[in-house]
Amino acid sequence: MEYNIAVIKGDGIGPEVVDAATSVLDKVGEKYGHSFRYEYVLAGGAAIDQVGECLPSETVRICKESDGVLLGAVGGPKWDDVPGDQRPERALLGLRKELGLYANLRPAMVFDELSAASPLKAEIIAGGLDILVVRELTGGIYFGERATKETPEGLVAYDVEKYSEGEIRRIAKTAFDMAMKRNRHVTSVDKANVLDSSRLWRKIVAEVAEEYPEVALDNMYVDNAAMQLVRNPKQFDVILTSNIFGDILSDEASQITGSIGMLPSASLADGNFGMYEPVHGSAPDIAGKNIANPLATILSVAMMLRYTLGLSDEADAIEKAVDQFLKKGYRTFDIAGGGDTPLGTRETGEKVAELVG
Ligand code: IPM
Ligand code: MN
Repeated sequence: MEYNIAVIKGDGIGPEVVDAATSVLDKVGEKYGHSFRYEYVLAGGAAIDQVGECLPSETVRICKESDGVLLGAVGGPKWDDVPGDQRPERALLGLRKELGLYANLRPAMVFDELSAASPLKAEIIAGGLDILVVRELTGGIYFGERATKETPEGLVAYDVEKYSEGEIRRIAKTAFDMAMKRNRHVTSVDKANVLDSSRLWRKIVAEVAEEYPEVALDNMYVDNAAMQLVRNPKQFDVILTSNIFGDILSDEASQITGSIGMLPSASLADGNFGMYEPVHGSAPDIAGKNIANPLATILSVAMMLRYTLGLSDEADAIEKAVDQFLKKGYRTFDIAGGGDTPLGTRETGEKVAELVG
């Protein structure tokens, strides 16, 4: 089969981690008889520099026509002075909205070989850690009404957190569907002791839960969830939450694994369409040095094969190759220990491609 992938290399280390990941995908294509055609499009800082806007309509069009989107990272200090609505990060919000990517899957797992990198005590993560944060991605306060106004009391600014029943129901379904394939436990995180939007969230999630009698549902307030993630992270399987809480908790979850350079993510629309990107950002301080860890982007490609292209054997092959990479003792700069000779970004891509077979 032939697949058209829209590729946004983006800023900072984006281009190099994406190149390493597409080299692995090419190898998968060779081995399994697929051809992956890449259409490179601009978004973020690179787009501001080259065409004067962070999300050109051409990019949105090509992404919509593609089978799936792969993104490196956007943003960096270079664009700090760009006005808010044109910052590189705006491109992400625009892509999510335009492509209908309402379900953000952010797995946070500790790889056996890297458990020492976790900042948590060994006994807290003993036996591994495997959490999936399911974050609502196109609603809530990120997309609600907002304004900054002059008033007699001085400037006033607000951003509205608003959720409809339909928005809550569809993301809840995603979380329960995911839980069915995992350990059948959903923790829905909200602030229902204070917020109306959270009370509706809780009500609709409970309704959806009735359709999944095999899945256990817990509700947790977000402040407690932030605490429980460091106190006893193994109690979580799937965390279902809103856009803003998911933004914060997924960063926390990624940090407790100790290896953010290893974590992929998927942003899914209805049907199978999705955009895939590493959880780490653009890391401008190490850009262009061939020392960034491309494994998160490589694992994001595996998620794309699994969720969007329906190629689960091929996805498994990549995940196994990454596993082998670690088991054989190869390391990238961010996860290298004292005695290790780390591999560069490109060399890591080549090694994983070789291990794909
Ligand atoms: C993320 C990022 C974005 C978000 C920013 C850059 C808009 O932090 O993907 O988590 O808050 O969603
Ligand atoms: Mn974030």
